[in-house]
Amino acid sequence: MTADSLLAVDDLAVRFKTEDGEITAVNGLSFHLERGQTLGIVGESGSGKSQSMLALMGLLAANGRASGRALFRGEDLLAMPTAALNRIRGDRMAMIFQDPMTSLNPYLTVERQMTEVLELHQGLSRSAARTRAIAALEAVRIPDAARRIRRYPHEFSGGMRQRIMIAMALMCEPDVLIADEPTTALDVTVQAQIIALLRDLQRDFGTAIILITHDLGVVAGLCDDVMVLYGGRIMERGSAESIFYQPTHPYTLGLLGAVPKLDHEGERLVAIPGVPPNMARLPAGCPFSERCTFAQERCLTDRPPLVDAGSAAPVLRACHAEAGFVAAQAARVQP
Ligand SMILES: Nc1ncnc2c1ncn2[C@@H]1O[C@H](COP(=O)(O)OP(=O)(O)OP(=O)(O)O)[C@@H](O)[C@H]1O
Ligand SMILES: [Mg+2]
Repeated sequence: MTADSLLAVDDLAVRFKTEDGEITAVNGLSFHLERGQTLGIVGESGSGKSQSMLALMGLLAANGRASGRALFRGEDLLAMPTAALNRIRGDRMAMIFQDPMTSLNPYLTVERQMTEVLELHQGLSRSAARTRAIAALEAVRIPDAARRIRRYPHEFSGGMRQRIMIAMALMCEPDVLIADEPTTALDVTVQAQIIALLRDLQRDFGTAIILITHDLGVVAGLCDDVMVLYGGRIMERGSAESIFYQPTHPYTLGLLGAVPKLDHEGERLVAIPGVPPNMARLPAGCPFSERCTFAQERCLTDRPPLVDAGSAAPVLRACHAEAGFVAAQAARVQP
């Protein structure tokens, strides 16, 4: 980590007060993001992907609380007054979600929603805002943007709505775009188009992207670095290439086994046995130990620290099993 990382997160934890007591949804999360970099966050449902990012954006539910440090351009997002965080959120950091309809107002035209943001955050006049909004829609390749901007969200397809969200997120030229499963609700062809679009926008504008996804294939195509989460903790972190081609953590292996084999239609997916853990009752040791085929006695009681995997590429992993041994098994599941 360099001192001038765009975003430097250190020991982030997210806790929720629930009727069953306090649960820790994210624990000991540390990573950094450089300008223009793309970081993938992968893991099964409930692994803490969304909550870790919502914590940075100051958008946790009322029963949630974040601790740790998250320096964004040198300022701690977690210690910032709400007004300052709101300003950063509208301007320097943007987030898009799986379902654009949760963020778009169905009663306002796309034009009104887009110009409102620009008038508020950039102090533009209505007509300057309109010109900028149309340019943003053109940048995300919405055909005939000048005319279609007058329509309401429901008049667009799912893929087009996601493009509108991306356009809105990028309008203020943020330093970071957090995309939380932006393509999950879309069909495969449209997914590929949106991913290609994100890649192009990043190339053209140099926006750093944090991409949350279940799909390791998407990660391989778009991300520089990848962080694999399970039970709210990092299992493995490294370059997308090393995580994808030389995984050293049994959980990553499991995720790779679960990648659908698109070229063998109808082939059964190899899923990880068992279900994600109950966050209120995590094992004392490695959170993945109960489902891990490599687990030894001590994995149940003694949580492995996140340390250098000792491989050629810089990879961090939290696992007691020997990296080389796990990697050797990985070779067998690779297509
Ligand atoms: N308001 C809340 N109160 C209590 N627990 C919560 C709350 N919000 C989230 N959680 C819990 O936090 C954990 C992490 O949730 P998170 O939304 O980050 O998962 P995720 O990795 O994004 O999963 P998915 O892939 O399904 O979106 C889950 O166990 C979830 O139930
Ligand atoms: Mg989520």
